[in-house]
Amino acid sequence: MKKRSATAVASPNIAFIKYWGNHIPELNIPSNGSISMNLKGLKTETTVEFDNQLEDDVLIFGNKPQEGEALQRVTRLLDRVREFSGNSCCAVVHSRNNFPAGTGIASSASAFAALSLAACCAAGLNLSESELSRLARLGSGSACRSIPEGFVEWQAGTDDLSSYAKSIAPADYWGLVDCIVILSKSHKSIGSKEGHSFAESSPFQAVRIQQAPERLKICRKAIITRDFDQFASIVELDSNMMHAVIMTSNPSTIYWHPTTITVINEVINMRRTGIPVCYTIDAGPNVHVICLKESKSQVCSNLNDLPGVIDIISSYPGGPAQCTERS
Ligand code: DP6
Repeated sequence: MKKRSATAVASPNIAFIKYWGNHIPELNIPSNGSISMNLKGLKTETTVEFDNQLEDDVLIFGNKPQEGEALQRVTRLLDRVREFSGNSCCAVVHSRNNFPAGTGIASSASAFAALSLAACCAAGLNLSESELSRLARLGSGSACRSIPEGFVEWQAGTDDLSSYAKSIAPADYWGLVDCIVILSKSHKSIGSKEGHSFAESSPFQAVRIQQAPERLKICRKAIITRDFDQFASIVELDSNMMHAVIMTSNPSTIYWHPTTITVINEVINMRRTGIPVCYTIDAGPNVHVICLKESKSQVCSNLNDLPGVIDIISSYPGGPAQCTERS
């Protein structure tokens, strides 16, 4: 077989209703469904080249060859693609992000979404969107939400077949902005992979899971009806519930820094003055401040004045993962 290659791009996403904890860890079947928005302008671009001269897969991230856990995760995903396509060749994977590493923007989502699509295109596999989403989920849970476009819901499902994400509204449906307030660029102490496995040990996880369908329903409806007040209260509740679980798990983790609380308080203050704005926080100290595009400059300028703010990266709702080149 001659060399076959393809390139794909995918955006990271921010979860409004969070994924935390797995029902079936080996397959990243989550304990609860989640809802997110793709982040426009932030991208992972990945090229996969299958080459029958290679003896092992090669992963190059930026310009650096990667080994260990990162390479193993990529090989596991490529093994699936090889199994489906009947092509047994190893591959060289080149991947790069256009956003800085260590900013707390979850890059595993865009990385595994782009990898899944590029590998399938290169192998000549024509998967449906839900099949691609299922494949990306095996690499990183949240990656399944970076396959469809715009506002996306990952239905938890109960097995490999039923657990995938689909779009609930296109990117241009609602003019939200995510102002990502960077407070720390250092790597987090406990990654989400490990964190998911501790979730069950919190006495609050069971109630968080049990009430998730109601929060999903409220969030879905708030997006469809563009009801910012409803949206803000459910997004903050869900983020606080996830962090309550994280803080009360064994081992316990606190991702927040003192400046995280400063930003939370500023968001609450802005809301009191009538600005539609809310916060959500992933597994790290940085805060995603969500507002309407009309309020973006006011919100960003208020946040910029706070002590400890290193940078603010803003992003609108983004499109689906796309294959950009095939040869
Ligand atoms: C807090 O999808 O990064 O961002 O499957 O282990 O890669 P792995 O986990 P990952 O977990 C995301 C956790 C979160 C919430 C979310 O995005 O829903």
